[in-house]
Amino acid sequence: MNMRCFSERRSRFMEEMKPNSLALIPAGSEQLRDRDIHYVFHQNSDFHYLTGYPEPQALALFQKGKGKNETGRWILFNLKKDEVIERWTGTRIGQEKACSFYGADEAHAIEDQDEEIPKLMAGCQTLYYPIGVSEPFDRRVNGWVHTVEKQVRTGLSAPSVRIALSSILHEMRLIKTAPELACMQKAVGVSCLAHERAMRVCQSATSEFQIHAELMRVFMESGCRHVAYEPIVASGENACILHYTENTGPLKSGELLLVDAGVEFEGYASDITRTYPTNGKFSPEQKALYEVVLEAQQAGIAAVKPGNHWNQPHEVVIRVLTEGLVDLKILQGSVDTLIEQKSYEKFYPHQTGHWLGLNVHDVGAYKVDEAWRIFKAGMTLTVEPGLYVKCEPEVLPKWWNIGIRIEDDVLVTETGALVMSEALPKKVADIESFMRG
Ligand code: GLY
Ligand code: MN
Ligand code: MN
Repeated sequence: MNMRCFSERRSRFMEEMKPNSLALIPAGSEQLRDRDIHYVFHQNSDFHYLTGYPEPQALALFQKGKGKNETGRWILFNLKKDEVIERWTGTRIGQEKACSFYGADEAHAIEDQDEEIPKLMAGCQTLYYPIGVSEPFDRRVNGWVHTVEKQVRTGLSAPSVRIALSSILHEMRLIKTAPELACMQKAVGVSCLAHERAMRVCQSATSEFQIHAELMRVFMESGCRHVAYEPIVASGENACILHYTENTGPLKSGELLLVDAGVEFEGYASDITRTYPTNGKFSPEQKALYEVVLEAQQAGIAAVKPGNHWNQPHEVVIRVLTEGLVDLKILQGSVDTLIEQKSYEKFYPHQTGHWLGLNVHDVGAYKVDEAWRIFKAGMTLTVEPGLYVKCEPEVLPKWWNIGIRIEDDVLVTETGALVMSEALPKKVADIESFMRG
C-alpha cells in the first residue's frame, strides 16, 4: 500500500482529535513461544493502520496543539540501528528512515520514551490510548502521567481526560477505502484459489493435514506470508467442533469436510468456509442439511444493505435454519416458539458474522447508543451460518456427525451487498461438478 494512504489516514485521525491532546498507540510486541524462540511477529493492527511501520518495539505518538488550525504531528519511538544485532535478525529501520520513508515528523530511540513522553504530556489536556486493552500498557501510561503529576508544583499540569482510542480509530477502520478494498479483494482471491485446490485434492487425500498443506502451499505461492487465522480443516464429526484446528484426522469417504481458511494480504484478512463431501457426492442427508444452510446464507446476504441493521442477517438466518430443521423433523414445534426458546442454538451456537478488515474479527462497535449499527457502504463483514449435528440421542442417527458452515466475505455497497468470494463454488450442483472436473 502506498505510503500516502497512511499519511492521509493520519491527517483524518488527527483532525478528529480534540485540541491540546495526545494519542498513544503501541506497536505489537514479539511473543515468546518457548525458551528463546518467538512466534512469527504480527504488527498491531491499529498501529499498522496509521503508520505502515512494520517493526516491533515501537510507539506512535500523535500530538495535536491548542491552536485552531493545528494539523498535528506524528512522533515515533522506535528501535535504534545496531550493527551487531542486525547481523542476527536483519536490518532495522532506524530513526532517519522512519522520517524520510515512513513520514514521521520526529523519531526517537525507544529507550528515550520514559524521558520524552512525560515532557510531551505536560500541559496537554486529553489522552487517547487503547484504555484497558493491555495491562502493561495501561501501567506505562499511568507511569508517564504520574511523572508529570509529581511536577505540578512547578506549574506543569497532567492530562485530565482519557478517551478510548477506538472512539476515533475504530470508527475510521469500519469504513474501508478503495485501497483497503483492493487488498481485501486480493486476499479473498488467493483464499478462493486455495479452497479450490483443497476441493480438487480432497478425493485423493487421506488426512486433514494434507488439505492444510495444500492451502498453505497456495497461500505462500501467491506471495502471502500470513494466514488470517489458523485454518480449520475438519472432517466428519470434527466439523461439529467450531474452532477445530488440530487438522490431523483421517479423511473418510462419505463424510463431509469443512474447510475454514483465509489468508492475509498487506495485513488485510479474508475468512472463507466451504463444506463438501470427501468423495465428491453429497448423501441425501448431507444435501438436505446443506441446502438449509445455503438458503439461510443467501437470505442473510440479502439482508446486508444500507439502512438495515447489524443483527438483521442473523435474525433472518435463525428463522431459515429453524424452518429447515422443522421441515427435516430435527426440531418439532412452532417455528416462532422454537426461535423464542432459542432451540436452534443446539445446532447453531454462533453468530452469523463479524466485521472483517485488518483483523479477521475486525474492530468497530456492533451497537451504537445501545441500538444495532446500521449498515453503510464501505463496511465489510462475513456471513457464515452453519448447522452442527453431534450424536444427539433425540435426533435420528442418520443426521449425526454432520457439520456444515458456509462463509463468504461481503462488502456493503450503496445499493446492497457485493460477495467478494462469489467465485468459489457453493451450490450443491456446482460443488459436485467442480469436484468431478
Ligand atoms: N475463521 C474464524 C471465523 O470464521 O470467525
Ligand atoms: Mn468468520
Ligand atoms: Mn471463518
